[in-house]
Amino acid sequence: MAGETDRDALIADQIAYYRARAGEYDQSMRRLGRYFSMGGNVAGRPGDDDAQEIAILLEALEGVGPFGSVLELASGTGWWTQWLAQHARDVTAIDAADEMLEINRERVNAPNVRHVLADVFSWKPDRRYDLVFFAFWLSHVPHDRFAQFWRLVGESLAPNGQVFFIDELGTEETRGMEKRLEGETVLRELEDGRQFRAVKVFYEPAELEAKLHAIGWSIEVRPVGRRFYWGRSTL
Ligand SMILES: C[S@@+](CC[C@H](N)C(=O)[O-])C[C@H]1O[C@@H](n2cnc3c(N)ncnc32)[C@H](O)[C@@H]1O
Repeated sequence: MAGETDRDALIADQIAYYRARAGEYDQSMRRLGRYFSMGGNVAGRPGDDDAQEIAILLEALEGVGPFGSVLELASGTGWWTQWLAQHARDVTAIDAADEMLEINRERVNAPNVRHVLADVFSWKPDRRYDLVFFAFWLSHVPHDRFAQFWRLVGESLAPNGQVFFIDELGTEETRGMEKRLEGETVLRELEDGRQFRAVKVFYEPAELEAKLHAIGWSIEVRPVGRRFYWGRSTL
């Protein structure tokens, strides 16, 4: 098991990676065909698998509404923030990479969104939210920060608040995209060849449900197509 200093260094590397990658993030999402911005919404490219998968994810997310105040953790360049901004009363979008938040601000450009530069592993919520949302983030949470991360989620929720999240399943395609160094640590490379360490943990839905159950959460996790899953708290 990694010592605290090693763990802090890995988390710092992961943040440095995303800071450096912000400028190419949207381009790589477009190449992957993950998102297509249509009328300001997150939607798949018409006609491919992702289109159907993103549509299913959105339908599941819509089922959580009506949306009041939303906390979005690791909001990135704002693919989901823009959707949330249109559906929620207000959105607080947290990310540790200023470069990501800058793109997010430009994309979303909505008065009901507050952007906060913060590391999820040290940030303390300043208020309570009706929904805590995170997309493609849980797979970047190391096992030994998992319980701490979920405590933050719990501390951020208003009474009867809900959690909804989305992430990738471990397929041949997603596993093949990066070199695994050891355990949960992978090596990520930018277009200019710079390399960074990051955390990438793939879960099977039932395994994740059980892991969450063990720390007191009742969460339903469902696969979506071949590549994604969503998780939703059950009240
Ligand atoms: C895979 S991206 C997902 C972005 C966005 N949620 C999406 O679905 O497009 C992961 C995001 O986590 C952010 N991040 C990485 N480490 C973080 C940390 N310790 N605290 C907050 N955000 C972090 C990165 O800057 C990046 O924007």
